[in-house]
Amino acid sequence: MKKYSRILILTGAGISAESGLATFRSSNGLWNNHKVEDVASVEGFQRNPDYVHDFYNNLKTEIQQAKPNAAHLAITRLQQEYPAHVDVVTQNVDTLHEKAKNQNIYHIHGQINQAVCLNCGHILETWGDVDTQTICPQCNVMGMMKPNIVFFGENLLCMDSVEEALRHCDLFISIGTSGVVYPAAGFVQTAKYYGADTIEFTLDTTANNYLFDQHVYGKAGETFPLWVDGLIQEAKKG
Ligand code: APR
Repeated sequence: MKKYSRILILTGAGISAESGLATFRSSNGLWNNHKVEDVASVEGFQRNPDYVHDFYNNLKTEIQQAKPNAAHLAITRLQQEYPAHVDVVTQNVDTLHEKAKNQNIYHIHGQINQAVCLNCGHILETWGDVDTQTICPQCNVMGMMKPNIVFFGENLLCMDSVEEALRHCDLFISIGTSGVVYPAAGFVQTAKYYGADTIEFTLDTTANNYLFDQHVYGKAGETFPLWVDGLIQEAKKG
């Protein structure tokens, strides 16, 4: 195995599957039994804000109880025991990377325990319910809070840091993402263009699998920790 100095890990819903959280494109194509366009689009939110707030308030409870799995914990081991800078770019709105004590986390699709005020831009961190009656603690306006989830058609968050990391990483690892939603699905191409090696950990063939040098199929909670142990052992051999 080569020695790497700058690693970027892109994660998707698949890394949280073994923690009991639903992925987006499983068999029935629904996300927690809801159509993604109803609960993750600007139009859906404008059409029925109470329905969307209710969806995320319920999801918050489920996510708050979820525990990080061996794949999340292996990222912490990699960050602590391997001599490289490791960034975690996640599409997930859960906080399992934080619970696993990962560092350098970028939530490009937002976070479930945050809401943003559409009047003043204040970010409210809360695990409690947010709805159309919530008053913004910053501007005191009621009913302008939106879940800080990046809806389809909205810009991704943290993109300045992510672009810098994509240009400078020498290893790009994808864990548990289907590679169908852009811009995130195009990150591997950017990293590859700037010379990074690319490896994906997934259950089944992904939409952009042709862009990866290596593929490790199986449950990330089993495959990724083994791979991390191998990389750490190699580095210790010098
Ligand atoms: N281990 C590894 N990979 C897994 C596991 C597992 N235990 N379980 C599922 N997977 C893989 C699936 O094979 C699939 O490739 O994880 C991927 C999950 O894909 P999606 O459900 O499409 O989730 P994701 O790629 O994160 O979706 C991206 O789409 O709806 C939007 O904003 C939403 O962030 C989301 C984005």
